[in-house]
Amino acid sequence: MGKNKLIAVYPGTFDPLTNGHVSLVKRGLEIFDEIVVAVALHTPKQPVFSLQERVDMVRNAFKPFPAVKAEPFEGLLIDYVRSKNAKAILRGMRAVADFEYEFQMALMNRRLDRDIQTIFFMTDYKWLYISSTLIKDVARLGGDITGLVPENIKIELYKHYQEQKKT
Ligand code: COA
Repeated sequence: MGKNKLIAVYPGTFDPLTNGHVSLVKRGLEIFDEIVVAVALHTPKQPVFSLQERVDMVRNAFKPFPAVKAEPFEGLLIDYVRSKNAKAILRGMRAVADFEYEFQMALMNRRLDRDIQTIFFMTDYKWLYISSTLIKDVARLGGDITGLVPENIKIELYKHYQEQKKT
């Protein structure tokens, strides 16, 4: 396969990765040979977890899937996608609210490189209402987030907020 490997980059802040993201990557594997989960340093958000922590959490969650790589990236997404020899950017769309932001990013990325396509998957209905922010909020206040994030991430989240309480 080597040369013709079909690669997609799935970019995001992943602060942290949720089961919604996991579901999207697994569905992406039905189409792509390899998916690079690209964890952004430059993001409009102020992440709770460091770049390395976010990458490590993604790596641990996808350990059983050798076709899924997790890497940090900085700078322009489109440059990173080119450097990976990928032809597609994978993004999930949860609801109408996501549309405008996704539309803007997709068009800007297309302006920057017309040879790279943004592909959207509709998020599975089970994950329509969740976001990393909502999950962090529930975990911070001691609520149950079982089933919404991979187990390793659930542990990390509770640990993080317990340590924060001590300081
Ligand atoms: N299920 C559940 N939740 C989902 C989801 C799914 N399938 N897909 C996305 N989400 C949630 C995430 O949890 C996240 O929630 P949050 O806002 O509470 O953190 C939100 O939807 C979107 O986050 P994410 O998918 O991680 O994307 P992002 O908007 O954080 O990422 C970048 C934006 C990093 C891709 C973008 O800023 C970028 O490309 N930066 C690099 C610099 C650059 O090139 N800029 C120009 C871009 S045109």
